[in-house]
Amino acid sequence: MTTLRLRPEGPADTEPIRQVLAGAFARPDLAVPPEVGLVEELRGSAAWLPELAMVAEYGGELAGYALLTRVRVSPAQFPALVLGPVAVAPHRQRIGLGTSVVQAALEAATELGERLVVVLGDPAFYRRFGFGPADRAGLSSPWSGLGEPWQALVLPLAVSGAAEPPPGEVVFPPPWSRV
Ligand SMILES: CC(C)(COP(=O)(O)OP(=O)(O)OC[C@H]1O[C@@H](n2cnc3c(N)ncnc32)[C@H](O)[C@@H]1OP(=O)(O)O)[C@@H](O)C(=O)NCCC(=O)NCCS
Repeated sequence: MTTLRLRPEGPADTEPIRQVLAGAFARPDLAVPPEVGLVEELRGSAAWLPELAMVAEYGGELAGYALLTRVRVSPAQFPALVLGPVAVAPHRQRIGLGTSVVQAALEAATELGERLVVVLGDPAFYRRFGFGPADRAGLSSPWSGLGEPWQALVLPLAVSGAAEPPPGEVVFPPPWSRV
C-alpha cells in the first residue's frame, strides 16, 4: 500500500513545493505561475504560521500542499486564516490528496484555537470541508464581488475562551495583491 504522510513543511521542502505549485497552476502564458511567488513571499512575511503550511507526501514524494496564513477581520482586527494556495501535482490528482492535505491543515488550525478560515475557490471542492458563502457570514473582501468562490468556514471551538468570529472586512497582507 502506498503511504500517505501529512505534516507541516520543513526547510528541505521548499523546492518540491515550488514544483507542485508550478505543475498544478501551470499556464501556457507564464513561465512561473503567480502562486509560486505568492508562497515564497508569504514564507518570509509576518503572516506565516509554520505549523499551518501542510504537505502531503505520497509514497515518499511531496505531491500535495495546503497553506493557511494570517489575515485580519476589520475593524476588530480579529485574527483569521486564508486557505491557499491548495495544489496537488498533476499526476497525483483525483486520488484524495487534495482533500487529505486541506483536512490536515484545518485540523491543525482547530487545535491551535483558530476560529475562522476564508478561501477563494470552487465551492464544488471546498464545500466538503464545510465552507459556505462568506457574504452570508457577514464577511466582505476585495474578492466579495466574485460571488460564490468567496467562502468562509467557522472552525469548531477546541480551545476554551476562543472568541466567536465577528463579521467585517477581511484584510489581506500585501503578498496577496499579486494574485
Ligand atoms: C483542486 C485540487 C487541489 C484537488 O486536489 P485532488 O487531490 O485532485 O482532489 P481530491 O482527489 O482530494 O478530491 C477530488 C474531488 O474534488 C473534485 N475536484 C478536484 N479538483 C477540482 C477542482 N479544480 N474544482 C472542483 N472540484 C474538484 C473532484 O471532482 C473530486 O470530487 P469527488 O470527491 O466528489 O469525486 C487539485 O486538483 C489541483 O491542484 N488543481 C490545480 C490547482 C487548483 O486549482 N487549486 C485550487 C485552487 S482554488
